[in-house]
Amino acid sequence: MAAGLRKLPGMPPSISFARGAPSLDIIDVDGLSAAATRAFANDPAGATAYGTSVGYLPLRRWIAERHGVDEAQVLVTNGSMQADAFLFDELVGVGDEVIVERPTYDRTLLALGQRGAKVHAVALEPDGIDTRALAELIEQGARPKLAHIIPTFQNPAGYTLSLPKRQALLGLAAEHGFTIFEDDPYVALRFSGETVPSMLSLDEGANVVYACSFSKTVCPGIRVGYLVGDAGLIAKIAKRATSTYISPNMVAQAIVHEFCVAGALERSIETVKAALGERADTLAAAVERELPGASFVKPEGGYFMWVTLPPGVEAAALVTASAQRGVVVLPGTDFMLDGGTDALRLAYSGVSPAQIDAGVALIGEAARAVAGAAA
Ligand SMILES: Cc1ncc(COP(=O)(O)O)c(C=O)c1O
Repeated sequence: MAAGLRKLPGMPPSISFARGAPSLDIIDVDGLSAAATRAFANDPAGATAYGTSVGYLPLRRWIAERHGVDEAQVLVTNGSMQADAFLFDELVGVGDEVIVERPTYDRTLLALGQRGAKVHAVALEPDGIDTRALAELIEQGARPKLAHIIPTFQNPAGYTLSLPKRQALLGLAAEHGFTIFEDDPYVALRFSGETVPSMLSLDEGANVVYACSFSKTVCPGIRVGYLVGDAGLIAKIAKRATSTYISPNMVAQAIVHEFCVAGALERSIETVKAALGERADTLAAAVERELPGASFVKPEGGYFMWVTLPPGVEAAALVTASAQRGVVVLPGTDFMLDGGTDALRLAYSGVSPAQIDAGVALIGEAARAVAGAAA
């Protein structure tokens, strides 16, 4: 058995590269606990009241300042998933055309499918969505209302949209009248390379709605995310939020606010980035060693690495063979409407370097078994 595995009686050892979630060791539990104490001490009325549908006002103000926008442009939600759902409900009806990246976040595909959208999946390249292909699609008659883009350390590929492509996308949105939904929960987690400005900050019209989250920088269980956009649109979504839940979780938002103003957020981001950088290095080296013939782009931040498998190794078979060895991985097919049979998404956010080495060794063993059986 590979070193570093936890053997449970009667069960195969389990290492999961499946979930986009952090391991407990990179969550500042003590800092959160202290922030909770301060939240109740400093603002008991605000933290315990229903509050308003736009979110806990001091946190809303803090976010607005961080993005250099007016407070009226910010709505704080229960996780950015809730922000996504409100935005889709506001902008996407049955038959509306929506651009997504190929591959993209599986929950986006689900949410758009549930709303009856007509989804156009445009190829994702290592420097982001193929903007030329998008322009051609529009020339051929596509009339998108919305483009859902995960610009930084994309889920599932780990790629980042380049500055020229951000500008090209903004140009297309202005010219053809569609909204860019910039879904950016991983932006703070860069451990190498150069920062790229958000499309929200580059936008000269009101063509961008931006979503971000504290799930990846604080912890996912806190369920705090937010939207930034045109004040008129945010006001409409705030009405929708009122009728959905009166207000989001004020206790959680008051805790996040205390965590942020105390400087704990910046410290937490440094901890998370250092761990992710080490894990990405370990993962890239392990995949090179154990999966010869596979290809990938080493991530510069975020949680995910997309691996195109060696010829002759099919993702579904490899997922099964890896599971039999106690390693959980997701096939590329989960992130596309079609295709993806030659790829895996590996999430390295929840595994230690020792687990990565051990897990990838088992995936390598599984790949050899699959290739042997296919031959
Ligand atoms: C691209 C993308 N958007 C949104 C979310 C949802 O994040 P939250 O935990 O803030 O709801 C995720 C979480 O994995 C994500 O990867």
